[in-house]
Amino acid sequence: MLTPNPVRDRTLAAKYYTDPDVLKKEKELFFNTWQFVGHTQQLANAGDFVTASIFDQNIFLVRGQDNIIRGFYNVCPHRGHQLVEGSGNKRVVTCPYHAWTFGLEGNLRGMQKRDATIAPERSEICLSEVRVDQIVDFLFVNLDPDAKPLAEFAPGLEAQILEHCPNLSELIVEGDVAYGHTYDCEANWKVLLDNYLECHHCGPAHHSFDDMMDIASSKFSLFENYTFQVAPTAMKAENKAFPLDLEHDVTTGHFWFLFPNTVFGQFPGTQGFYASRFDPVTPDLTQRRSLSMTTATPTDPEMSKRAQLRSDWSSNIVSQEDRALCENVQKGLHQRGYIQGWYITDPDAHDISEHAMRHFHDIYLEALEG
Ligand code: FES
Ligand SMILES: [Fe+2]
Repeated sequence: MLTPNPVRDRTLAAKYYTDPDVLKKEKELFFNTWQFVGHTQQLANAGDFVTASIFDQNIFLVRGQDNIIRGFYNVCPHRGHQLVEGSGNKRVVTCPYHAWTFGLEGNLRGMQKRDATIAPERSEICLSEVRVDQIVDFLFVNLDPDAKPLAEFAPGLEAQILEHCPNLSELIVEGDVAYGHTYDCEANWKVLLDNYLECHHCGPAHHSFDDMMDIASSKFSLFENYTFQVAPTAMKAENKAFPLDLEHDVTTGHFWFLFPNTVFGQFPGTQGFYASRFDPVTPDLTQRRSLSMTTATPTDPEMSKRAQLRSDWSSNIVSQEDRALCENVQKGLHQRGYIQGWYITDPDAHDISEHAMRHFHDIYLEALEG
């Protein structure tokens, strides 16, 4: 575990959240870090594929006949057409333009040729591969061929997740329907993460959440390229957020942030897990893409009812509260009267301390500016 930096007390200057030139530099940062793209269950069988993009770079992941999941740029080496769309299953990848075909391992299998055709040997050409790695079964890609593997980039993260969420490998993917929620927010991606990385605002701004939780007992710990928050509930079956079954449900939240833009966690309530990626679209617009997991069989007859109530609360109450806060802050960051803010940190009061957010900024500044 790392100790919080005791020196720097000023937050990132406003320009980091508003300046298009900063976003240009961040683009390179995103191309050189691990980006969350899915879950191995989405690629259960040979030939299953999913597409993803990191800014304008389009990639796809596919499970080969040899059972290995590989990532490729979604571009045909012949003349540059996109190869696949959406998700599905393919025996071979056939380019829609001139029908070059590729094996699931990226090798060129076929092209049109006559006797006198001048064309390269098939063995000279293959799809351009990108690095794929995983934490538990969550899949990440990195466009930097020399990037450190995730186990070295975030040492101990996978073991920590499995220690606190031992049932994770039994859960099944349910898309973005539950409490991860895919949505747009008119604020910089770092504003959304800053908001995720402190619970200073939970009392003043999330009244129902505050009623369900025991925020004073929450703890944020800092690690190399990630943070971990333990957030116990107040163990109230009836509370202002959603009903908790104290026997079957998660009664202590566990939340991780992996630099630069992924969050994972087990939210209080029915058994499950989520992972989300925060994608900058412009300095003032962020897309949160999420994946939710749930149990294969209900833990009890009332589970689906409680899951629905949590999902409704999450989309209609807490997400709306956070979105309004972030969008309001983004407007504030454009004010001539606001140049840079202050961190509030306290080693003994993690309910108000912003040291996890500062840790994010420390890693960010180092990565962006050295
Ligand atoms: S661009 Fe793909 S076959 Fe021509
Ligand atoms: Fe919040």
